[in-house]
Amino acid sequence: MKISALAFNLLAMTLYKGNIMTKRDFLDIHDHDEATLRGILKRAGELKAGLKAGKRPKLLEDVQLGMIFEKASTRTRVSFEVGISQLGGHAVVMTSQDSQLGRGETIEDTARVLSRYLDMIMIRTFKHDSLQKLAEYADVPVINGLTDASHPCQVMTDVFTFEEHVGEIKGRTIAWVGDCNNMTQSWIHAADAFGFQLQIAAPEELAFMEVSSPNVTITQDLEEAVRGADAVTTDTWVSMGDNDAERRKALLAPYQVTDAVMNLAAEHAIFLHCLPAHREEEATGSVMDGARSVIFDEAENRLHVQKAIMLWCLGK
Ligand code: CP
Ligand code: NVA
Repeated sequence: MKISALAFNLLAMTLYKGNIMTKRDFLDIHDHDEATLRGILKRAGELKAGLKAGKRPKLLEDVQLGMIFEKASTRTRVSFEVGISQLGGHAVVMTSQDSQLGRGETIEDTARVLSRYLDMIMIRTFKHDSLQKLAEYADVPVINGLTDASHPCQVMTDVFTFEEHVGEIKGRTIAWVGDCNNMTQSWIHAADAFGFQLQIAAPEELAFMEVSSPNVTITQDLEEAVRGADAVTTDTWVSMGDNDAERRKALLAPYQVTDAVMNLAAEHAIFLHCLPAHREEEATGSVMDGARSVIFDEAENRLHVQKAIMLWCLGK
């Protein structure tokens, strides 16, 4: 008899390492309540302070993390791999080219097989549906390491980095400038979850997302979005998988973050960028290397925040 995916997952939940807890996936920020998200950020702060003091508690000893990359990565790969290692676990890295995914093995079968070896899976893929299927069919926690639709680990890190440099994000204003992409979607989710204002400036042709949240505005007017903001953030104009680079660059040219744009923001405003950047496209080198830029702290913080996410997924 065929067991439905739901029943399969329920069975997996009860069998999961003998624990009674429900399997915990981290697929999107808006799946979680504020208390859970706050708990993760608090833990990240503790882990960061501990690491700086030379502490590397082996809280995930012998935990096997699988990482599937269907797109390129520098930060996500290295921060997860180093993170699990610092916690006492191990990482297995696969790409579509060097696994059977590239030869058409289904994500459902892959999920079932990998669940027999691994304790947790992180995936970077194209379709959000692939992530959701993986989570549905895996009986171990699944973490979203970026899809075409969202990048929650990055935006959790961006909120953490904002709070490190500026203070509590609730009630503040973040200006998103440029393409409306997976990062923008996760910022929208975060605005609702953490209670801040997100002001998006984007050309009409690329402002594809429908926004019904009272916390989010979209305008074509760059100055309107940035004026007085507590942070300005942007991302590459051509995301992985986009195949209309020239069109995007032409549409986005008026949305470059320059020193003049930064000067419209609040005096204490910081500049965030998830990286990788294309200098002199979405932001000038002078902004990226300027006094308000916290982009390398932001990159480092991926490590601390993802360690906290992995611990939350495993109920540790
Ligand atoms: N920001 C980010 O996810 O970087 P990578 O693509 O290098 O992982
Ligand atoms: N929007 C970018 C983010 C890279 C971390 C992309 O999807 O390529």
